[in-house]
Amino acid sequence: MTVIIVTGRGGAGKTTMTSNLSTYFAQKGYGVLAIDGDLYLPNLGFHFALENVKYTVHSVIKDPNIDPEWAIYKHPQTGVYVMPGSANLQDVLGISAKRLRDIVEQMKYKFGLVFVDSPTGIPFDTLPTFEVADYQLIIVEIERSPIYSFEVMVENEVEKLKALGDEYGLKVGVILNKVRESQDVVNKIIDVLETEVGVSVLGAIPFDESVPESVNVGIPILVYKPKSDAAISLKESGELVREWMFEEVR
Ligand SMILES: Nc1ncnc2c1ncn2[C@@H]1O[C@H](COP(=O)(O)OP(=O)(O)O)[C@@H](O)[C@H]1O
Ligand SMILES: [Mg+2]
Repeated sequence: MTVIIVTGRGGAGKTTMTSNLSTYFAQKGYGVLAIDGDLYLPNLGFHFALENVKYTVHSVIKDPNIDPEWAIYKHPQTGVYVMPGSANLQDVLGISAKRLRDIVEQMKYKFGLVFVDSPTGIPFDTLPTFEVADYQLIIVEIERSPIYSFEVMVENEVEKLKALGDEYGLKVGVILNKVRESQDVVNKIIDVLETEVGVSVLGAIPFDESVPESVNVGIPILVYKPKSDAAISLKESGELVREWMFEEVR
């Protein structure tokens, strides 16, 4: 019943966060569907070892005779239901982002939570889907750089992406990823985001070599290496996202 769109810059960790937050909620007993909304460069399937499947979000978009359910695969290790994309160029051409919106709307009534992974930058593929969404998560990769360039980064990505969510009335949160900075620096960044930009920061995931490893084996790190630093932070982040989503509106 709830749709969460994951957005952010290229390589920030959108797909990693989509697969792991989906896993977190599946472990908590929610019926979770993760849909690849990066229609041009889909790779959510890799995170769940679902590369060469017959039906994909692309086939559902292209052919109205294909039941969306056929393109949904239950990932055995996590229990997440996944609708992967097709990497085949022929499938990617002439695809309609509006149809993705309709599919998400249809699936919204069958799953407790639907995560939609977005393309990089302005998320053209998932923008129509914002209409049927409830939440937007912006994944931010902090660079090891002086604090003033952080402000530029905030203006460039967080504010622009948040403006999209605001336009559609979504509740917008931020997760910091690939964090290598000291707690001190991270706290300052969180403070700016929360007080000046007005978004909730729902976690800071450390840079961890086990993350790409987990993608290689096709099992989100929460299950693949639950004791790794990234997995421990991801779990805390999942908890924050859960509280944030379901907190009472007062
Ligand atoms: N916390 C992390 N620590 C180390 N590597 C990470 C982390 N999060 C993501 N990565 C790696 O960064 C790369 C990009 O992540 P991905 O989720 O595909 O980003 P996006 O979907 O935003 O383009 C992948 O190789 C992934 O394994
Ligand atoms: Mg991605």
